[in-house]
Amino acid sequence: MTQVPLSTSTTASNGAINQDPGPELMLECRHLGKVYSQGPEEVMVLEDVNLQVFAGERIAIVGSSGSGKTTLLNLLGGLDLPTKGDVLVAGMNLASLNETQRGQMRNRYLGFVYQFHHLLGEFTALENVCMPLLIAGLDVRRAAQRGEAILARVGLGHRLEHKPSELSGGERQRVAIARALVTEPRCVLLDEPTGNLDRHTAREIHLLMAELNTQLATSFIVVTHDEEFARSLDKVLLLRNGRLEPQVTMDGGADGR
Ligand SMILES: Nc1ncnc2c1ncn2[C@@H]1O[C@H](COP(=O)(O)OP(=O)(O)O)[C@@H](O)[C@H]1O
Ligand SMILES: [Mg+2]
Repeated sequence: MTQVPLSTSTTASNGAINQDPGPELMLECRHLGKVYSQGPEEVMVLEDVNLQVFAGERIAIVGSSGSGKTTLLNLLGGLDLPTKGDVLVAGMNLASLNETQRGQMRNRYLGFVYQFHHLLGEFTALENVCMPLLIAGLDVRRAAQRGEAILARVGLGHRLEHKPSELSGGERQRVAIARALVTEPRCVLLDEPTGNLDRHTAREIHLLMAELNTQLATSFIVVTHDEEFARSLDKVLLLRNGRLEPQVTMDGGADGR
């Protein structure tokens, strides 16, 4: 419903015009646990994960392969249900919502960039990006305007009509990022968004995220293996043994070169 121009400066960073009551808690999980059943065996992936993400906060999650990073993002976004514990998005406990309501909550508050782009192959870049807006009930013409604007912003204004198979890996990932951002979600969950990209493209995407964070106070939770990028964010958390812990510096390499 809300018509949010892409270029608003909102109340981000230094615009302390209003008396803010303090940073808003966007996303929270408490004592989150996830056990997968594999035949007779139970595999405990997450044991006790606690996390608070405030508006405009940028958090990196690191951890070895198989440590449960994707599982955690899926739970935070309500794509999967925990075995125990709670997830709250903008103060709403996901456990109190039915599946339809969880879908609406996702569409309204969250954006996702999956580990593999998950674009729909038969649709153009613009159609892929417009999809969440159409689902949210926006009319086609306005959805297209917003879709074009965000694609231009990720540097793909000249690729609107291209299908995913006609785009490079970096371009596909930028479309996926545009799709996640087009609704101007308050919080974006990204699962190794630049893992398959060359250094230059990865850097462009990191810059885009920084820009959106500054302009729209978007929160980000990013699973990444890029240590330099992780260090540039507000917080780095390590997922290990089913728990999230503050990452004690990854030192050994100097200051991010
Ligand atoms: N649907 C599932 N059923 C059973 N086990 C799963 C399922 N999804 C993930 N796992 C297991 O959970 C662990 C964590 O997986 P994942 O969250 O994908 O880790 P990461 O993203 O950190 O590499 C792995 O051991 C994986 O095999
Ligand atoms: Mg993963």
